[in-house]
Amino acid sequence: MSQADDVGNLFLRFGASADSYKEINSEFEYFEPLLASVEAPVPVPPPAMAKSPAATLVELKRAPALPAVSLPVQATAQPVPAAKLPAPVVTPSPAPAGSLRERLLAVASERRAQVQPPAAQPGTPAQRPQAQVIVVLSAKGGVGKTTVAASLGRLLKRRAGRTVLLDLDPQNALLSHFNLSRSTPGLNHARLHDSTWGTHCVMTTSGLECLPFGPSNAADLRAFDSLLSTHPDWLARQLADLKLGRDDLLVIDTPTGTSPWLQQALAMADQVVGVTQANAASYLVLDKLQAWLSHLHPQACHFLVNKVDPQNALSVDMAELLHRHLGNQWLAAIPLDAQFDQALAFEYDPFQQPADTPACQALRAVAVNLAQRIEHNREESSAR
Ligand SMILES: Nc1ncnc2c1ncn2[C@@H]1O[C@H](COP(=O)(O)OP(=O)(O)OP(=O)(O)O)[C@@H](O)[C@H]1O
Ligand SMILES: [Mg+2]
Repeated sequence: MSQADDVGNLFLRFGASADSYKEINSEFEYFEPLLASVEAPVPVPPPAMAKSPAATLVELKRAPALPAVSLPVQATAQPVPAAKLPAPVVTPSPAPAGSLRERLLAVASERRAQVQPPAAQPGTPAQRPQAQVIVVLSAKGGVGKTTVAASLGRLLKRRAGRTVLLDLDPQNALLSHFNLSRSTPGLNHARLHDSTWGTHCVMTTSGLECLPFGPSNAADLRAFDSLLSTHPDWLARQLADLKLGRDDLLVIDTPTGTSPWLQQALAMADQVVGVTQANAASYLVLDKLQAWLSHLHPQACHFLVNKVDPQNALSVDMAELLHRHLGNQWLAAIPLDAQFDQALAFEYDPFQQPADTPACQALRAVAVNLAQRIEHNREESSAR
């Protein structure tokens, strides 16, 4: 028997009608479709003292539990020092109107209106170029990085595809290996004029494209330091503008030692060529060079020992010691060869001479080795 029958009989007993009787459920069911997105109730600690509704809302927006219901995301990820936060403005609330249910729905609706879509991310990490990338680096200056980068560019020049040489060293020396004027605008010009890197890639007489660093001053270098340290994928973003494809090759010459440039270049390297010399000073800093590469796959890191003097017993022994020390990562010993300096001075290509010098032969062998690795990588990536 239902509750209504009981009540109906009671009405009859008093000679009255139960027609107007309506059974109600004493339990209030709080149904709020607007809150459907809230997966779990958020426990809000009871306030220590009574507050006006507006003040309570301010508190709720700041309560640590509320991000679970997607409160507006601050555009800036940097915490604002408390001293700089404006004092909270608590406006007196108007006299409450309507039922509790209506007022609660109004509050919920307000809260939903404040929920914005997640703030656009400052950018998804830039993709590394599709091209194969070789990065040339060294711990000591003057060991032959730029000479090696220019040589590899020449020797690995793609028949079907682009070969781009990128100079990340403010010395701006790479362009001199391709008879380009030192005033040729490069990536510094691109930064200053907010232009894209693609517009500053110069086609050289060797059929390679070269993106020089370009002329720069101390203020420019400070600006780069700041850009690179605050934008970890800045280099990848600029390179995206070159629109390099799978068949292309990018050779990057870096400044000596570690720098924000090096970190970003290594992040996109397929092959790394560390250049060192067969002398005690280079040997003593080899561990640094290896440490910078310790996060990379060992098979992607190779070392070549440049300017080995066959007439100098110490130089030959040092090269042998380095060979043993580097094991599988040893790439080659490049003999001392005055031709490299002559080629630079008289603006000719040392690999276009009637006969190869031993240093040119050694560099050709290095190029063949790297070409095989690059081809292997290409095949692997196209099989994926
Ligand atoms: N195998 C070699 N034999 C003789 N000279 C060489 C050899 N390789 C490079 N050089 C010469 O050494 C000098 C320095 O070379 P390079 O500019 O390539 O070094 P680097 O490591 O790029 O220098 P930096 O650290 O200043 O960028 C140049 O004059 C170059 O011609
Ligand atoms: Mg150099």
